[in-house]
Amino acid sequence: MLLKKIINRTINTMLSISPAFFFMIKLPYWGLVNIIIRWWGSTGLHSIRVGEFKGGASKTRSSYREDMLLKTMMLLLDIRGKSCLDLACNDGFWSFRLARLGAKSVKGIDMNRDVLVKANFLKHVYDYPGFRFVKQDIFNFLSNNKRDSFDIILLLSVLYHLPKGSNWEFFFSSLSKINSECLIIDSRWHEDMSYWPDPKQGILKTKKGIIKKWQPTRAEVIKHLYNSGYEHVVEVDSTVFIQDKEGAYGNGDPYSLENISDYMTNHRSLIFAYKKKDFMPAALEKIKIEKAEREK
Ligand SMILES: C[S@@+](CC[C@H](N)C(=O)[O-])C[C@H]1O[C@@H](n2cnc3c(N)ncnc32)[C@H](O)[C@@H]1O
Repeated sequence: MLLKKIINRTINTMLSISPAFFFMIKLPYWGLVNIIIRWWGSTGLHSIRVGEFKGGASKTRSSYREDMLLKTMMLLLDIRGKSCLDLACNDGFWSFRLARLGAKSVKGIDMNRDVLVKANFLKHVYDYPGFRFVKQDIFNFLSNNKRDSFDIILLLSVLYHLPKGSNWEFFFSSLSKINSECLIIDSRWHEDMSYWPDPKQGILKTKKGIIKKWQPTRAEVIKHLYNSGYEHVVEVDSTVFIQDKEGAYGNGDPYSLENISDYMTNHRSLIFAYKKKDFMPAALEKIKIEKAEREK
């Protein structure tokens, strides 16, 4: 502790004396981080590049999602000081965004070891050493977790990757038991199957053979949420935040990583499930948010 203080003080003094010293320290450091991240490759879902910001025409699905989902979350929730669970966290993209919105702690769960190596590396780059990223199947986590509970739980882009025929009553009631404030779901909806033409997207290749994935509809999920103890469920059309509608629609391919046409055609959306109605900001009562409530 004392050593850390001395080092910090020395660096700060040097910085205040000479801006050149700042660049001598900063540039090689960020250069090195940048090289490591590039070397790591952008094979993951999100390409996070330190020091580069994409804008305008070159936006990808990831940056459109970041733009609209973060704005939606900020409108519907106060994340400051909250404990959060990011289920299917992948490389921690959303965990680190929650941190930026003021989350007190984040635990991430994913079953893919490679993406967790990235998340655990990035938590040091972003300086959140207290975050925990754990390799586990979501169902195992929900069966075994007897200790932790979380104010906010993220379940983003994963429902439709889980096996069809799973015990959904167990799944949603287990989530509800460990969730004190709000569950946020981002999912494809399968009311109109002709919108999702690729059969390969609907299967999982496992060691035990091929398994069909769940193709959830809004009505099913909303019913499970109300039955599991969520008092207030709203569906939100986040695309209202997108200004560049044409670019965001792209070529309309629902599986493309370049556009968000699936959100824009209402085959995908966000659901906020609150444990108590009061947890939704009162001002939003006056706005027509969306249609989930009438499906109770
Ligand atoms: C499409 S990514 C979603 C990543 C992130 N939540 C987002 O919205 O951008 C799906 C992630 O779910 C993870 N996953 C799929 N099935 C899972 C399971 N049963 N248990 C844990 N993780 C799972 C995959 O490893 C992958 O990282």
